[in-house]
Amino acid sequence: MKRGLAAGIAAVIAVGGCTSGRNSTTDRPSAPAASFAPGAPGAGDPYFPKYGNGGYDVGDYDIKARFDPATGRLDGTATITATATQDLSSFNLDLAHLTASEVTVDGRPATSRAEGNELVVTPPVGLPKGRPFTTVVKYGGVPEPINNEALGKGGWFRTADGAFAVGQPESASTWFPVNDHPSDKATYKLSMTVPDGLEVISNGVPGPRTSADGWTTWNWSEGSPMASYLATVAIGQYRITTSRHGGKPMIVAVPESVPADGPAAKSLARTGEITDFLETQFGPYPFDANGGVVVADDRLDYALETQSRPVYGDTFFSGGENSTVVAHELGHQWFGDSLALERWQDIWLNEGFATYAEWLWQEHEGKATVAESFDRTYSKFEDWSQPTGKPGPDGIFDPAVYDRGAMTLYALRKAMGDAAFAGLLKSWAARNRDGNVTTDEFIAAAKQAAGGVDLDPVFQAWLYGTTKPPRP
Ligand code: ARG
Ligand code: ZN
Repeated sequence: MKRGLAAGIAAVIAVGGCTSGRNSTTDRPSAPAASFAPGAPGAGDPYFPKYGNGGYDVGDYDIKARFDPATGRLDGTATITATATQDLSSFNLDLAHLTASEVTVDGRPATSRAEGNELVVTPPVGLPKGRPFTTVVKYGGVPEPINNEALGKGGWFRTADGAFAVGQPESASTWFPVNDHPSDKATYKLSMTVPDGLEVISNGVPGPRTSADGWTTWNWSEGSPMASYLATVAIGQYRITTSRHGGKPMIVAVPESVPADGPAAKSLARTGEITDFLETQFGPYPFDANGGVVVADDRLDYALETQSRPVYGDTFFSGGENSTVVAHELGHQWFGDSLALERWQDIWLNEGFATYAEWLWQEHEGKATVAESFDRTYSKFEDWSQPTGKPGPDGIFDPAVYDRGAMTLYALRKAMGDAAFAGLLKSWAARNRDGNVTTDEFIAAAKQAAGGVDLDPVFQAWLYGTTKPPRP
């Protein structure tokens, strides 16, 4: 799902206006014309050119799968509704380590072949630009995480009693066929069948649960457009707490191995309260559900802002209650999730804002003012050579992105004034809700909100400079 009404209109005009007056959207079972070409095997991200694919735009994923913890096998059917963005002769989906056994496009058998972690699908007839089409992929295998040398492992992790899928910048392609890049947001439905007695937690709103022959099917749906790396699932023995907050389902899950009244459970229990506070800073919470999942596994040494249901590695709570990490992941629901990246280089738009959300929460809690958090960070920050707005593909999780990103926002606030900056945070979130954003768009929005203050020196020094900027 791509934002941009103008682009949508242009596509319609292009389809309607091409060729000799024939309606090119008519389904003619003729051979593809010469203009039909394969979709690109990557979405063209400057940092990760192979991630995602070109030539189409997904609207919805409907995944029905069965996971057997005894064998580690995952078998599923993914129904992917998309629109061609060029005249397509074939297109790629990302699918790592799993095998597609049968593929159809609009109900007709398509040929498919695996090329590394890509599934190349060739439909029997070309797909004209602007045409909606439905791809059904039957697939299966024993999933494995993807290893990125610099950034760590992401994707499907098998555990003693189940599995979980978490990762950034890549994860989804280890458990379903996908256009695995945040620029192509889509809605999601997940129907996951597991042995009776296990729980399944995923994004969004819970649906009905059904049981037959010793297996239980859990249904979840995320109705707001979501970047693929934000899709998550946790399968295992969990204690699920269901309530409502702000009229929306609040679902918190903690492993049975973790104490029900311990620091992890107590920290996640503050999700509603922290959301309420962040709404005063960023505007309305953008999704239909809320909550969180704690995962107890040594391999997960981070938390992730998985949409409407962040996942927290339990190490965050080994020193006691930690509402700061909850504020960070909830801050991402606005910045990172509702406003997703168009390209990974701009990740400070996620992490700088989420770190700033921590500072706001700590001020609210009476622990440290935002100015004190800035001062502490500014005085201990060491490597100013790595620009926040250009951290490099191996540096997307570095302090230059998190700490210097939050310091950039503080410097901006000082330059434009508290009131204008507070207005900018809300208008940025409201105007780009459910969309994709870039740093250049944020700079333009800030300039508009600043009413004549020259912000170029601030962005130049804080986002792109390679030396320590003066204290704002
Ligand atoms: N975005 C996550 C956060 O909330 C961090 C993910 C780190 N990922 C990784 N592969 N190290 O800060
Ligand atoms: Zn973060």
